[in-house]
Amino acid sequence: MNHKKIRYLAEMGVEAFWYKNSRHLSRFEENNNSKLDDVKREIDNCERCDLSENRGSIVFGSGDEKSRVMIIGEAPGKDEDASGEPFVGRAGKLLDEILFAMGLSRKEVYITNTVKCRPPSNRNPNDDEILSCSDFLDKQIDSIKPSIIILLGKVAANRMLGINESMAFFRKKVFDFGNTKIPLFVFYHPAYLLRSPSQKKNLWDDINFIKGYLRKNGGSLN
Ligand code: URA
Repeated sequence: MNHKKIRYLAEMGVEAFWYKNSRHLSRFEENNNSKLDDVKREIDNCERCDLSENRGSIVFGSGDEKSRVMIIGEAPGKDEDASGEPFVGRAGKLLDEILFAMGLSRKEVYITNTVKCRPPSNRNPNDDEILSCSDFLDKQIDSIKPSIIILLGKVAANRMLGINESMAFFRKKVFDFGNTKIPLFVFYHPAYLLRSPSQKKNLWDDINFIKGYLRKNGGSLN
């Protein structure tokens, strides 16, 4: 959306959340991404929770550090712990396919997790671990300033939103991320879809739900 159109819509009082946070505006109001480097430095050698004891690497996040779309998974697994990159295993390959279906590539989004270190035996991260890491995640969001956030799976969704619900509750709804008012959507976790491939058909509805929401608000995924 060009600058003229943004002003025209703003004058009409049209909801401006999308381009407020978008790359288009960042031409005028640069995202300060050295802030993300500060967070990377801060997390180095972190020992805020017990997950630090057995980790191979801190999996901070990867992708476009100015992306409009931020994807938040649960926790690094074995492959991620070994490589230091999020979603590089089988679930990661499926995530790439999901992004492709959205018309996006991994390079165009920013991917991270609720916790940055692998829980032993790939168990779910617990509340304390997510809380210990939440300061880093908040700072990542604050530096990247995405226009939308997509949480993967109900474990991440329940913990991030402070509720206890099933996926059926989360699907095709818009939430706000904390005080930021960044619209947040919840998708099935790719690892769950690998175990329950019959649910993949629902993903298309979820993607269309986001697209419809963005269309109404003058945005798009790409
Ligand atoms: N599952 C996640 O939630 N995150 C990863 O990075 C890999 C698998």
